[in-house]
Amino acid sequence: MPLGLGLAAIGRPDYINIRNQTKIDKSQKAFETNAFAMLDEAYTLGIRFFDTAPSYGMGEKYLLKWHTQRAHKDVHLSTKWGYTYMANWKIGYRGKHEIKEHSLAKLQEQWSHSKALLPALALYQIHSATFDSKVLNNTAVLEELYRLKKEHVINLGITSSGIHQAALLKTASEIHLYHEPLFDSFQVTYNLFEQSTHNVLRQLLKAGKQVIIKEAMANGRVFPNQQFPNYQKTYQILTKLAHKYHVGMDAIALRFVLDYVKPSLVLSGASNLQQLRENSKVNSFTLNQSELNTLSSLNKNSAHYWSERNALQWN
Ligand SMILES: NC(=O)c1ccc[n+]([C@@H]2O[C@H](COP(=O)([O-])OP(=O)(O)OC[C@H]3O[C@@H](n4cnc5c(N)ncnc54)[C@H](OP(=O)(O)O)[C@@H]3O)[C@@H](O)[C@H]2O)c1
Repeated sequence: MPLGLGLAAIGRPDYINIRNQTKIDKSQKAFETNAFAMLDEAYTLGIRFFDTAPSYGMGEKYLLKWHTQRAHKDVHLSTKWGYTYMANWKIGYRGKHEIKEHSLAKLQEQWSHSKALLPALALYQIHSATFDSKVLNNTAVLEELYRLKKEHVINLGITSSGIHQAALLKTASEIHLYHEPLFDSFQVTYNLFEQSTHNVLRQLLKAGKQVIIKEAMANGRVFPNQQFPNYQKTYQILTKLAHKYHVGMDAIALRFVLDYVKPSLVLSGASNLQQLRENSKVNSFTLNQSELNTLSSLNKNSAHYWSERNALQWN
């Protein structure tokens, strides 16, 4: 199953998306119930890869609790380090919801909690590695990651965002420690509007690396809405294809990524059961070459994409 489930929208009450104020119950009790239902349904649908992070509120705790209770032997868990969740479940929190810190101390602090996911923990990632944070030049951090990799037999990865994704992926993939490549996995933002990493991703896949796609629905911008009238052409094309394949536009957006990049996995960012079931319909069809060409032509300028992405609100 090439679909994984990400817990970014499941573990905390406010998240970056374009939803209008929906009337969902934002209590921790309701979120935990939803998280367990989502994880169970995902497993039933055949999903075996689950991605979380300490900054996803209760995401890591829910995943650990679910995994401990269900004890499935065939799931692969993935988490990250480098961002701290600040909102503390305060609805409508006005400060920064997550704060980045790529220091050795933060790695050690977050690993001391995340290691509870072992031995199902298959992948440990630097959360949003950037040139700015200089984490890829931090020898103490890289040495510690290497030590964790060897001691616990886990894969190491980076996740990337922003206009420099392609260059960052290349730099990270060239880092070697003790004559072996340090990173095995690359989690990247790629969707109809942001395809700037295409060639690098193909090279990484060719070299046998794991490529995981996130934000395949551009945080919900692929769905018709009034905030982005400039995407009318995209909405028309997606509607037509959705009709043809008897699926939602979400499945078309996910299928585009699968058929065009052929990644190891694409993450569903579904926040409820209905979205998850709709997303899983990605497995019911494939797109032909002419449809892939049409969809790839919807690509936007990367700088424009990221300025729009950075302006999205936490809701
Ligand atoms: N490493 C990183 O820095 C990073 C950053 C982002 C994401 N990720 C990972 O990637 C995963 C997926 O990415 P994402 O959640 O950011 O982005 P996404 O997949 O682009 O968007 C997810 C949003 O799309 C909407 N959606 C999904 N299916 C829908 C449907 N059938 N109908 C209507 N709306 C639908 C939901 O919005 P509503 O909730 O508003 O309904 C959902 O929250 C995350 O869970 C996380 O694991 C990692």
